[in-house]
Amino acid sequence: MSQFDGRTIVITGGADGISKRTAQLMAERGAAAIVIGDINADLAAQTAAEITAATSCAVTATRVDVSDPESIAALFTTAIERMGRLDVLVNGAGIMRTSTIEQSDAAAWDLTCDINLRGTFLCAREAFTLMKPRGYGRIVNVASVAARIGGIASGVEYAASKGGVVAATKSLAKLGGPFAITVNAVAPSVIRTKMTEGTAYSAAGIPLGRLGEVEDVAYAIAFLASDEAAYITGTTLDVNGGSYMN
Ligand SMILES: NC(=O)c1ccc[n+]([C@@H]2O[C@H](COP(=O)([O-])OP(=O)(O)OC[C@H]3O[C@@H](n4cnc5c(N)ncnc54)[C@H](O)[C@@H]3O)[C@@H](O)[C@H]2O)c1
Repeated sequence: MSQFDGRTIVITGGADGISKRTAQLMAERGAAAIVIGDINADLAAQTAAEITAATSCAVTATRVDVSDPESIAALFTTAIERMGRLDVLVNGAGIMRTSTIEQSDAAAWDLTCDINLRGTFLCAREAFTLMKPRGYGRIVNVASVAARIGGIASGVEYAASKGGVVAATKSLAKLGGPFAITVNAVAPSVIRTKMTEGTAYSAAGIPLGRLGEVEDVAYAIAFLASDEAAYITGTTLDVNGGSYMN
């Protein structure tokens, strides 16, 4: 039996980067259906078609803006219409701005926190209502090493939003426990995606001697979303080449 045999999954931000690789991996490992929700509807549709063609998983895409509560509600309505139930949610949508303190103004703070933190919470909230009656669920949030050590080049608001994700993960895990819903997070360091393209990050000081790849994070997310992680909840798994050790 494969890791995600028959599972139904929602992945936000799945058009690209870490979440796209996670969708590919879960599809390759037997998922029955995946709904990719992303603000970039065209790229999400392209990604869904690509994965469907390469696997036996029914991957579809829908546009969602996770900074908008109504859009989030619509994503989960669509997911239930298409898949019938929800086993796994991966909260992968996020933005990171490299900004000075002068650029980190109220608008930048609100946008980053609305997407990275409030969006994560509201998606988990929708997932809870679908998972609780079934007594099963896996939620994996994507935090960041910035939650551990502060932003590297990102603005204050990014580190704060990801610190919030780590704390929210613990609260959600407590609420999900009685319903066998586990809630965990991953905290990647610099991973080579569009988000970090063109930035001056280097492998200096990373014990494993390289920047991270999307696979590195996707494997960790897949583990936490699997049945093998049934007794792990409320944790944040560092995926950082040893650059920060908890
Ligand atoms: N790349 C890194 O170094 C790194 C490190 C730590 C954490 N992360 C986190 O990993 C997650 C994925 O990042 P990535 O590197 O794959 O970036 P990415 O830019 O490649 O992918 C992010 C995806 O999220 C989507 N998205 C952005 N805003 C959205 C919104 N409002 N609603 C819905 N979708 C939206 C984008 O369209 C994109 O497809 C993010 O939460 C990010 O903060 C990334």
